[in-house]
Amino acid sequence: MVSSFISSILMSLFLSSLFLSSLLLTPPCHAATSPELLKLACTVDQVTDPKTWNYTLCIKVLESNPKVASSPNLPTLAINIIQLGISNVTNTQKYIQKTLTSKNIESSLRIALKACDQSYDLILKSFQSAFGEVKDDEDYESASYDLSLARTDYLNSCQQALASNKVEDLSISTGSKFVILFSAAADAVCTRLDV
Ligand SMILES: *[C@@H]1O[C@H](CO)[C@@H](O)[C@H](O)[C@H]1NC(C)=O
Ligand SMILES: *[C@@H]1O[C@H](CO)[C@@H](O)[C@H](O)[C@H]1NC(C)=O
Repeated sequence: MVSSFISSILMSLFLSSLFLSSLLLTPPCHAATSPELLKLACTVDQVTDPKTWNYTLCIKVLESNPKVASSPNLPTLAINIIQLGISNVTNTQKYIQKTLTSKNIESSLRIALKACDQSYDLILKSFQSAFGEVKDDEDYESASYDLSLARTDYLNSCQQALASNKVEDLSISTGSKFVILFSAAADAVCTRLDV
């Protein structure tokens, strides 16, 4: 018991020294490796309520996309996160529109879904503008602004419509969580590029 405890302590000491030496062996002016870039993207100070930010989830989601995870530099990382965000937002909006075509939904839900459909139009346009601003113009300040509008004003109008009509939809609340995740992560990268 005791000896296994001690050996596990020795093991962790050994592993941390390996980790530290690998950090020290990295040449200081060498380009950051992807895991470091993802950490930058997930270290956000731009979310309205920091308590809602899940760093672990952010890393997990970004790591699970091969294109994002292998981004060689910050501009490409921003572009790849925005692109992933565009596809996620598009899917959520498709879900909203598909639900709207169903005949047997309550009128309060229908009202809220229509508002969310409009919200997602604006969210999608903001992500698309940010994409062009980063890729074509290297205008990181405008991209940052558009990404922040997407997860604040535009997203809020959908959430308020759901709340005021007293309806809930799990897929839409999950969708909102990812609007925040992708826009805040891309924004964190743009903020670092806008120097
Ligand atoms: C954050 O995300 C991780 C990974 O998905 C999850 O295990 C954890 O429960 C989440 N934490 C909170 C506070 O939601
Ligand atoms: C959005 O992305 C998240 C994270 O990869 C995923 O779990 C979710 O299913 C996606 N949502 C849609 C509607 O594609």
